Amino acid sequence: KTIYLEDYTPFGYVVESVHLTFHLAPTATRVVSRIAFAPNPDATDGTFLLHGEDLTLIRARIDGEEITPDLTEDGLRCAVPDTPFIWEAEVEISPQTNTALEGLYMSNGMYCTQCEAEGFRKITYYPDRPDVMSIFTVRIEGEEKVKLSNGNPVGSGAGWAEWHDPWPKPAYLFALVAGDLVNHPDRFTTMSGKDVDLNIWVRPGDEDKCAFGMEALKKSMTWDEEVYGREYDLNIFNIVAVDDFNMGAMENKGLNVFNSSCVLASPETSTDSNFERIEAIIAHEYFHNWTGNRITCRDWFQLCLKEGLTVFRDSQFTADMRSEPVKRISDVIDLRARQFPEDQGPLSHPVRPESFQEINNFYTATIYEKGAEVIGMLKTLVGDDAYSRALDLYFDRHDGQACTIEDWLAVFEDATGRDLAQFKLWYSQSGTPRVAVSEDWTDGVYTLTFKQHTPPTPGQDVKDPKVIPIAVGLLNPNGDEVVPTRVLEMTQAEQSFAFDGLASKPVPSILRGFSAPIVVDREVSREERAFLLAHDTDAFNRWEANRNLARDCLVAMIRDGAGPDNAWLDGLERVIRDDSLDPAFRALMLSLPTQSEMAQVLFDLFTVPDPDAIWQASEDLRGHMAVAWQGFLPDLRATVAVDAPYAPDADQAGKRSLGSALLALQTRLDGGAAAQAQYGAADNMTLQLSALSQLISAGKGDAAVKAFEDQWHHDRLVMDKWFGLQVGMAKPDVAVDVAQRLVQHPAFDMGNPNRFRAVMGGFAMNHAGFHRKDGEGYAFLADWLIALDDRNPQTTARMCSVFQTWKRYDTNRQGLIRAQLERIKAKPKLSRDTDEMVSRILG
Ligand code: ARG
Ligand code: ZN
Repeated sequence: KTIYLEDYTPFGYVVESVHLTFHLAPTATRVVSRIAFAPNPDATDGTFLLHGEDLTLIRARIDGEEITPDLTEDGLRCAVPDTPFIWEAEVEISPQTNTALEGLYMSNGMYCTQCEAEGFRKITYYPDRPDVMSIFTVRIEGEEKVKLSNGNPVGSGAGWAEWHDPWPKPAYLFALVAGDLVNHPDRFTTMSGKDVDLNIWVRPGDEDKCAFGMEALKKSMTWDEEVYGREYDLNIFNIVAVDDFNMGAMENKGLNVFNSSCVLASPETSTDSNFERIEAIIAHEYFHNWTGNRITCRDWFQLCLKEGLTVFRDSQFTADMRSEPVKRISDVIDLRARQFPEDQGPLSHPVRPESFQEINNFYTATIYEKGAEVIGMLKTLVGDDAYSRALDLYFDRHDGQACTIEDWLAVFEDATGRDLAQFKLWYSQSGTPRVAVSEDWTDGVYTLTFKQHTPPTPGQDVKDPKVIPIAVGLLNPNGDEVVPTRVLEMTQAEQSFAFDGLASKPVPSILRGFSAPIVVDREVSREERAFLLAHDTDAFNRWEANRNLARDCLVAMIRDGAGPDNAWLDGLERVIRDDSLDPAFRALMLSLPTQSEMAQVLFDLFTVPDPDAIWQASEDLRGHMAVAWQGFLPDLRATVAVDAPYAPDADQAGKRSLGSALLALQTRLDGGAAAQAQYGAADNMTLQLSALSQLISAGKGDAAVKAFEDQWHHDRLVMDKWFGLQVGMAKPDVAVDVAQRLVQHPAFDMGNPNRFRAVMGGFAMNHAGFHRKDGEGYAFLADWLIALDDRNPQTTARMCSVFQTWKRYDTNRQGLIRAQLERIKAKPKLSRDTDEMVSRILG
């Protein structure tokens, strides 16, 4: 069943208050609800439909009178008074057997919930839609030591605890946690002087992994006050770490629930990237308190209203806490790796979709990351001051409401007087715009001409021209910047911009800072790219010039059998040896395009990508770099060694990331000696893991893999890395065998999403291994998707997206993939989640 944006109608009733009592028991939890409803004066349809799934109704009453409602698959209906009334119900649910990890479930003996998007209906009968907001009071009865819900604690005693949340919220923000947990406590004083208790709740044994997350939380609270003027609004803020969780984390009001991988951190068990990611996710969930909770979404089509904005805010935060250019480059790498394939393939959908079958399938890179890019463009177009004014107006005008993209754009229109009708196309049109650039130099006038074109996407054959902010700077042939960054506002299908007063034909630096999520099509000579690599003042475009040189080099090697581009490597050498540059930036310069990225590059050049050839060329290029640079690799690596005690800050992390990129090259020369030494000496997970990964890739990993397992078998999060690395680093011809061996390991547990993703995601990332010619890789993954679907539809459906790029490959591989997709589709009782994904991918 497909749901359409245009069919939106308000619910016929308002919910004045909700009282819930939970009698916890693993397979027979009773949930008693007492809900005050009143007719909604703004609604025309008075149907009383309460959502409910997998509930056993024990009894229901209206105004104290026992009733017998009509029960259906998705809820219940009954006749109700046309005046305010009290609904009471008691239902039974079974958290212990809830393997979908949606609604109330158990993870390692603790009760926890995940309600976004539509999990609350698995807890009790309710109008489970984000525009129905109410005030919740929750009583939890059970023997667990710790019993938490949203809002402020209002009482507790032997076997019970009560919570009251004064802020109206939709059901998707409800949360309950109960278990024998321990906390890492702290305090925060808000800008108006209110004291807030902060806690991170974990399983006993994990207490020593909370300190970093707590610091990140306090930094986030301060930052949101300083930058957005947003203050926290309850007396307490709780975070809970849960081992079995379908996604990263969830912003439930006052009770954020985190995948333990996104909050627990220690130097011994977490890498620098883990630390950075944890800091960002804690910020993200905290920022949702205003962008998501105080102002929520009218319906799920508006998901980007909270997610795009909150991702944008967490990126700003990370840029402020760490390095802005490094964050920008990393975000673009991620956007191109995850969002571009989505937007250019069968799963393409607008930032605000107009229809869906299963909303869980729309927590996508397009809604999150492209959604954030759209906000970045808006800010670029209106300017920083107008952006702040618009945001103030947004918080002012819409606090306490469930809003739409129209509301969001209206505050920008009202704050700036700008007409955003054309800009709105970014929300409604899917696909990645391509912009072709040509230049002209006549009589001292330099002209850039842009032509935009968005290829058709599923359901959208024709596209209108969009507003595209193109940040441009010009350099003179000496490498000096003669026109500093200026934002050209493209609004037409084809448009020219002239620059005069220049003494000589300049070299353009186009799309600085990646000012729009587009593909720039421009024939650029190697010399010009090399010039920008050497001289561009914009860090992003400097990196981009290098990336393009790397891509061109690999294309020539793969397609034309050429050798590596030594002129480029000389230019790159100067950058990586330039110790005035941030090591983190130099490490990004050294990272090559992924094999999957190269497959797309070749496909765009009308060349069918051969995964084995791409793998071979990447290997050859790395081998060549190692030999060309053997004279200075060890010394350069020594310059970025960190002597100080481990700290997960940007400075040290940057050094370690350059060090690890250099170690990878060195390993190709010394057969693993340096990696072995680093493995032996490592006192933190970053160095230990980078050494292990090099040992595996050198074929010398057996002893270290074993030692690592002996050292870390008790730690689930570290073992996820162990699983993922082995299958990710395996040589293409044995990757399937490695994956098959790993799923036989006693610690492989398909019911734990982190473990499942470590193996299956790691395997799919092994590009040439997954795309093995005989199709064994596809069959292996399909077997496991079929196996997981009954248990956990959400995680299964999400993993299906690794097949989304199938049309890039040769007809033989396409046939093999199609056969697997059809096999999945034919599985009896396939979940709605997986069915929708597979059908869309098949097209
Ligand atoms: N709102 C959460 C976040 O972005 C993610 C929830 C994901 N939900 C889902 N059904 N996939 O912070
Ligand atoms: Zn979010």
